[in-house]
Amino acid sequence: MPYDDAISALSKDALKFVKNGSVLGLGSGRAATAFVKELGQHIKKKNLTIRAVPTSLQIKLVAEQSGIHIIGADQVQKIDIVFDGADQIDSQKNMIKGGGGALLRENILISSAKKVVIMADAGKFVKYFDRSVPVEVHPFARNMIKKFIEDLGGKPQLRTIERGYPFITENGNIIYDCDFGTIKSPKMLGAKIKQIAGVVEVGIFVRKPDVIYKARENGKFDILA
Ligand code: A5P
Repeated sequence: MPYDDAISALSKDALKFVKNGSVLGLGSGRAATAFVKELGQHIKKKNLTIRAVPTSLQIKLVAEQSGIHIIGADQVQKIDIVFDGADQIDSQKNMIKGGGGALLRENILISSAKKVVIMADAGKFVKYFDRSVPVEVHPFARNMIKKFIEDLGGKPQLRTIERGYPFITENGNIIYDCDFGTIKSPKMLGAKIKQIAGVVEVGIFVRKPDVIYKARENGKFDILA
């Protein structure tokens, strides 16, 4: 993969934000996985006391294998720093997240974090969002919400896995990947979708990250404040 070297290099660099005694939030996906593996080694080497809240079973397994002390979100009231990936980042530093389906827990941790560090490939940076927006929906409301999203100008597509089975989130919900074309007012769109009863979470995150790592294809990376 062209970006792997850069993701690995920036994961090592991001360790400088990890302070002894802190509570970390661990996002899900490829970038978060690379970071968590580095984090495990760093904790051992420096003999740090770190507790971490995972946002999915996927990253929990990686964290467990890396020897990281895992706690539940309900054991803390604040997260010191979240380390996570993103599916798209616009020029205002809004993010689309939820490509892996962990958007609810990711948004909970990001919203309560003192600091947010995001790590993403250069190809995910755009002026305006132009990929589908993941929307987590309670299955009871699926047809009503489908219609609401269509009325907002979106084309909702039920996320499926192999052989057409619906993708079920770790919260027991379904996901609509909603095509809105080019999105020029993400905050407004996200708020409109979020207010529909039965919508559990929307993958438009408007909390701006404090640090953004941009992985380049040549193995190097940039840091955007
Ligand atoms: C998980 O639901 C997503 O929000 C991920 O953070 C996002 O898809 C980025 O993942 P990668 O680092 O695998 O691209």
